[in-house]
Formats: sequence, structure tokens, C-alpha cells
Amino acid sequence: MDKIRIRGGKPLHGSITVGGAKNAALPLMTAALLTDETLTLTNLPILADINTLCNLLLQHGVGIRLAGAGGECAGRELELTARDVTNTTAPYDLVRKMRASVLVLGPLLARCGEAKVSLPGGCAIGARPVDLHIKGLEAMGAEIRIEGGYIVAKAPKGGLRGAEYVFPKVSVGATENLLMAATLARGTTVLVNAAREPEVTDLAECLVAMGAKITGLGTDRLTIEGVDRLHGARHMVVPDRIETGTYAMAAAMTGGTLDILNTRLDLIKAAVTALVPAGVEFTPIDNGVRVSRANGELVGVDVMTEPFPGFPTDLQAQMMALMCTARGAGMITETIFENRFMHAPELTRMGARITVHGSSALVRGVERLTGAPVMATDLRASVSLVLAGLAAEGETTVNRVYHLDRGYERLEEKLAACGADIERIRAEDD
Ligand code: UD1
Repeated sequence: MDKIRIRGGKPLHGSITVGGAKNAALPLMTAALLTDETLTLTNLPILADINTLCNLLLQHGVGIRLAGAGGECAGRELELTARDVTNTTAPYDLVRKMRASVLVLGPLLARCGEAKVSLPGGCAIGARPVDLHIKGLEAMGAEIRIEGGYIVAKAPKGGLRGAEYVFPKVSVGATENLLMAATLARGTTVLVNAAREPEVTDLAECLVAMGAKITGLGTDRLTIEGVDRLHGARHMVVPDRIETGTYAMAAAMTGGTLDILNTRLDLIKAAVTALVPAGVEFTPIDNGVRVSRANGELVGVDVMTEPFPGFPTDLQAQMMALMCTARGAGMITETIFENRFMHAPELTRMGARITVHGSSALVRGVERLTGAPVMATDLRASVSLVLAGLAAEGETTVNRVYHLDRGYERLEEKLAACGADIERIRAEDD
């Protein structure tokens, strides 16, 4: 397995281009199942998760063509054509690799009237059930049973029916699944307490470009009037706000200055609100944002993760790494996932002082972190260890790099170009 080796203590200077958001690209790709015409996605990130979903869509009969794979994300295009859906089963072997595969459920059910999708199972950051996806589709008339580890769903005669569904809890994935299903349902669907993440809005905008009738974009109440068919469209994937926030913290932690390009400051408002009092400076620039440490030192602040527009859970681990070397203490509270502090003991191995109590972690800043071999069991936790390694004294080796490859494109290349001493050690070189 590949590793990443970092010799820390080098301030980052230069510019980093952010790719399209993984969490937007995945649902957008599944939206291709809703039409027999071609959906073209631009600004596509090249990541392991995108490949996994391509493999799933291929076996549903979707034709896929990637153009411009060598260039910057903005120039990259993926064409998806589901002229005929030849198979409505999403098998366990593919779904277990990536939970987002469950997003084929709504589109398959709406287009074909039936779907059999493996239950994704738990993952490192918690149980992550899909009950809301199922209940929402049932409210639209679907008959659903669980059989042999699969969600087996059937639409009523004449197709799914519009319905009002009130989410008892905000769920990004369930909102996306129901939104897609509702575009082809008969009548009007109202999704109340819907997720408002920019990736949900990006999906809604793409669906509108495909001919869907949706109002309330960007709010927690989405109204969808079903149409008979959707058509092809061309859509640019929204910039990755988590990648943006991650590099912003890398600049601040190393005491450097980075121009983060191909992104938007408004996508990371909550992170900016937390990071400014922590001593991070943000300046809007053409096509992005300049980030640096304001007055020489970082200061501990309290942060609580919340659904958008609150502080994103996907930046929580990185924020914890940042607070490890801040002056004073800060409290991080995780409200979205029950088991998302696995990075805390690894950061402790690098000299951090962190006390975890239930869903809160008290981080007391130390003078400096020291390099160590570390590993993590999920994507964002892994990148928080890379950030800690960049700021630490000495050498850090991050193991299980495949987690990083799921969500960060050419991470070590982008950081090295800004002065980081970072390299990938391929398994065969080991
Ligand atoms: C998406 C993101 C993930 C991010 C998360 C929260 C993608 C591909 N992934 O994941 O990176 O961390 O949003 O912002 O976009 N829940 C239920 N029942 C359900 C569905 C969810 O109880 O049917 C719970 C989950 O266990 C979790 C919370 O609701 O505690 C939020 O999960 P959800 O928003 O659905 O996350 P994902 O869509 O899986």
C-alpha cells in the first residue's frame, strides 16, 4: 500500500487549483440514469470514488466517455448516456466500496419502476443507515423490502407519486435520492427540512437544466413538479469546498500564504467564520481566495459541526489538526456522525493534547507537533494527518493513502508545488 512521507516545518507559498466537488460529481453522475440523452459534466475531479461509480453505472448500461483527462479539472468532461438501462441491480461488491452508490436507487426507481440496490453497511465514521432514503421513497408510493442484504424497491403502477416528505433529520444523500426520484414522479413532491448543502443545490440546478421543474433551490423546502421525461444537458460541477477549506488550513498551519483558485469564498462561509477568530486571514482574489496566517499565531476556538450552512463535518478533522498548535484551547463538537474522532489518537501520537469526551474533543494547543508514522481509517481523518505532518517538526509517514485518493486529486503534487517536502512512496518501492 502506498504511503505519503512528509518532512514538516516548511511554510506553503504559491497557488493551488481546486477541482470539482467529489460530493457533487457523484450524485450528478447518477442523475444521468434519469434520461436517455447525454449528460455532460465539466470540471470533473479524477478520483477513486469517481471510478468506482463509473464501474457501477457501466453495469447499469450507461455509456461513459471521459475527455481531456490529462488537463486541469476545469477542462475535463465526462459524458454519460443511459440510452437503455439494461440492469437495475446495484451489486454488493460495488456498493460496499462506496456508500454514495446508494444514490442510484432514486433514479433507477423513477426511470425503470424497479431497483435492487445493496445496503451499503456501516463505515468507519458510524452506522450511517439509509432509512430516510427508504421512507421517503415509500411516501412516494414505492413498495420496499429488505431481502438478502438488498433494498428491493418497486414503484406503483403508473410510476412514483408526488408526496410531501418531512425529513426527521437533515440528510444530504436522502435529499438527493428523493429529489432525483421526484423529477419523474406524477404530481408534486415537497421535501421539507431538506439538506441545503451546495452539492444538493448543484444537483438541483443540473436537473433543472435537464428539464426538471424544481423551486426552492438553496432552501430547506424543495418543491418538485414531476415531468414525463428529462433530456440531456451540460453542467459544470461546483468547486470542492472541502478541498478549499483543507488547503486554507494548510496555509495557516504552516504560516505560509496560498492563493486557492477555481473556488468560491461563499462556499466556505462557516469555516471562514470559525477560522478568522482563530487567526486566519482570507482575501478574495480573482477566481478564488488568498489565505494566510494573520498575526503570527493561531488561537484556539470552539467549533460545532452542523448541516449546511453550519460548519461542515468534512472539515472537522482538519480543524482539529489546526487547533493542535494554536495558543490556548478549543472545543470541537461533532453532531453529524457518532464516531468521527479517529484522528484524535493519531494526532496525539504526534504530540497533540486532545481529550475526547463523547461527541466533544477538547484540544489544548502545544508549542509544536513532532513527526510520527500515523494512519487513519477515513478520508478526512487522513488529510488531517497530512496537515499535521506539514506543520510538524521532523518526518511523518501517513499510511493507507488510498483513503486520500478517494477524495483529493494529486494532493502531494499540489502541496509539493507550493514548497512542501512531501512524496508518495509507492508500495513497490517500499
Ligand atoms: C454526505 C457526504 C459526506 C458528508 C455528509 C454530511 C456525499 C457523497 N457524502 O454523506 O461527505 O460527511 O453528507 O455532510 O455527499 N442518516 C440517517 N438515515 C439516513 C441517512 C442519513 O440516520 O437514511 C444520518 C447519518 O447517519 C448521519 C446524518 O444522517 O448521522 C447525516 O448523513 P447524510 O447527510 O445522509 O450523509 P451522506 O449523504 O451519507
